[in-house]
Amino acid sequence: MFFKNLALAVPFFAGASTAMPQTAPGAPLSPGATFSLMALRSASEVHFAGFEAAKGSLLLKLPSQNASCDAGPADHATFFLKDGGLYLYAASATPQQLYADRSGMGQGKLGYTTGAQPAPRNGERTSFALDEANDLTLNGAGFIACPNSIDGAWSVWVSAGVDQPAGNEGCLGISARAVEVSNPNGCLYTE
Ligand SMILES: *[C@@H]1O[C@H](CO)[C@@H](O)[C@H](O)[C@H]1NC(C)=O
Repeated sequence: MFFKNLALAVPFFAGASTAMPQTAPGAPLSPGATFSLMALRSASEVHFAGFEAAKGSLLLKLPSQNASCDAGPADHATFFLKDGGLYLYAASATPQQLYADRSGMGQGKLGYTTGAQPAPRNGERTSFALDEANDLTLNGAGFIACPNSIDGAWSVWVSAGVDQPAGNEGCLGISARAVEVSNPNGCLYTE
């Protein structure tokens, strides 16, 4: 499903190479829509990479999420928004909810909790939204991707005024574009 939408998106971007993809208008997703997230950072290794979820983090270019899914292995994570909260989509009853820690300690740490697990002390959980381009923001803040994480993947952070969070190197600012998924595969992602 993700790649079907991506295949539709690519020729459009390719034909408009001088335009920033970030400014391309798209129909707004309906409230409660399920979506995947695609990293946008032109001329980089992570341009068009789909977001994965594993081990409590969001990642790009992860070889395998190893999530437990209803309809077979899922290559990418599926999300939905509810009352400003960002959740991983599951048909089962165990919610997995995103949080961001923009404190001096967290430096933009982005993670998810499972079930009744509390968010970290400075974790923000209810300020997620899609903007007019269907890009995810946390109260207007964008995202950063840093190489050399789990299994060679890139870790995803919220932009919190630190270009290279937590001692990482080679991090890049990215946009996180939501792409609707009409037949979502419910998954329990690894903690
Ligand atoms: C997924 O499983 C494989 C095989 O056990 C392992 O090598 C890999 O590190 C796992 N990845 C994650 C993100 O858990």
